[in-house]
Amino acid sequence: MRYKIITAEEAASYINHNDNVGFSGFTASGSPKVIPMAIAQKAEDEHAAGRPFQIGMFTGASTSDRLDGALSRANAIKFRTPYQSCADMRSAINKGSVPFFDLHLSEVAPKMRYKAFGDVDIAVIEASHITDDGKIYLGTGVGIAPTVCKMAKRIIIELNHHLPEGLMGFHDIYEPLDPPYRREVPIYKPSDRIGTPYVQVEPEKIIGVVETDLSDGVKDFDTLNEVTMKIGKNVSDFLAEQLRTGRIPAEFLPLQSGVGNIANAVLSCLGENKEIPNFQMYTEVVQDSVISLMKEGRCTFASTCSLSISDTLAGDVFKNLDFYRDKLVLRPSEISNNPEMVHRLGLVTMNTAIEADIYGNVNSTHVCGTKLMNGIGGSGDFTRNAYLSIFTCPSVAKDGMISSIVPMVSHQDHSEHSVKVIITEWGVADLRGKDPLQRAELIIENCAHPVYRPMLRKYLEISAKGHIHHNLNKALSFHEEFLRSGDMRNVEI
Ligand code: COA
Repeated sequence: MRYKIITAEEAASYINHNDNVGFSGFTASGSPKVIPMAIAQKAEDEHAAGRPFQIGMFTGASTSDRLDGALSRANAIKFRTPYQSCADMRSAINKGSVPFFDLHLSEVAPKMRYKAFGDVDIAVIEASHITDDGKIYLGTGVGIAPTVCKMAKRIIIELNHHLPEGLMGFHDIYEPLDPPYRREVPIYKPSDRIGTPYVQVEPEKIIGVVETDLSDGVKDFDTLNEVTMKIGKNVSDFLAEQLRTGRIPAEFLPLQSGVGNIANAVLSCLGENKEIPNFQMYTEVVQDSVISLMKEGRCTFASTCSLSISDTLAGDVFKNLDFYRDKLVLRPSEISNNPEMVHRLGLVTMNTAIEADIYGNVNSTHVCGTKLMNGIGGSGDFTRNAYLSIFTCPSVAKDGMISSIVPMVSHQDHSEHSVKVIITEWGVADLRGKDPLQRAELIIENCAHPVYRPMLRKYLEISAKGHIHHNLNKALSFHEEFLRSGDMRNVEI
């Protein structure tokens, strides 16, 4: 190998205060694992010596505790974007010690190329293999790696020997031309390949290689519980009915499924419904349930940005990569989440809401309007451009003390114009073709928890009447009550 083998500490020594650093990966999958911890240590040493040390941080999406956790605990972040899901990072953002700006995930790479956020000084990239002529074969997540490699002045590689050689060939790396030269992205079905299996860089930019042998460390998903099972069953019954009535073509359409436990449960239930034909996915994360569905022949192909599967399952997948070779492709987030593709392929999208209001506006990101949970992720890329956009959520959170259906969302990520269907464990509100009051009735009667229905009905009664009915004094009273007493059930309308 022509490249210099260096330690994680040497790698960190190349990263200076104020540098903007681009990281590979999408979720813990494909994210660098040892250099970020060495950068965090350097930050702590520099702070102890009375010197400033903070970096700007670009990622594909969430990462892992080894990256987001370590850097946030070391107070080493000048800014961060986009989506994160790490407890310590979240807490630092909510305290105001990490400036965070959220972006639709498909937008991160192009907006970086448009120089919206400044230069990329250095790229830290996990690879499964590299060649002397500058071909980087990535790991289990792609994210923004091709763009940060192109933009960065210097690149450091984490060569992870845990990743099997057989992973080569799963990636399809493609960057569109920027306006005014952009053409269509020539993907017409989820399995189309349009790029190369590697990221090509100038070899001179690679200043060192750190060798590792570590798994992604993705935890097992929660086992399905009664509520998530019911949500999943409601989604699959609804889609089966849409097929029967011809509102979804008989050939069925590719599916996108969001992140987290609920999304994982919904997909499991879809697989079990005999009325749902075998399906393909065009999505941003493949979680454990998709792998089970592939083994059963239910999911025949998945285009994704990340193979975000638990360590328990990864061993099995790595041993049997040839089985998945014609069933999986890993793409950059700019392509996996590309609004043009979502629209052209006609995706049925399924994402999870923190809360929805009685008119169909959805909050995916902020609890009580102020505290960031994770970020918008790809939910906006998919929802706005879908053939049919579905949001799921349990009707209540925190043992019933929070209603996920509220009079007015405390923060808005997806408007009533983009959200077509809301599904909880109680039922389905199909909002298409309904006026605001019809939507409110459907959402309250079909989706809200029975305990909260009388309060929501009363809210409508005391609301000012217009095209939409609202009482501006009481619109956020559920949230105010939660902040006051810790239980929305005490709200007085
Ligand atoms: N108010 C306060 N907290 C709420 C809440 C509400 N209305 N609804 C959910 N929560 C809390 C839950 O209690 C849980 O907290 P805990 O971790 O302390 O137990 C947490 O949010 C996660 O909820 P859970 O029910 O386990 O669902 P999930 O794992 O499926 O995550 C989202 C749900 C909304 C947080 C997650 O899907 C997300 O971040 N979405 C935005 C990005 C996105 O959609 N990406 C996909 C695009 S492909």
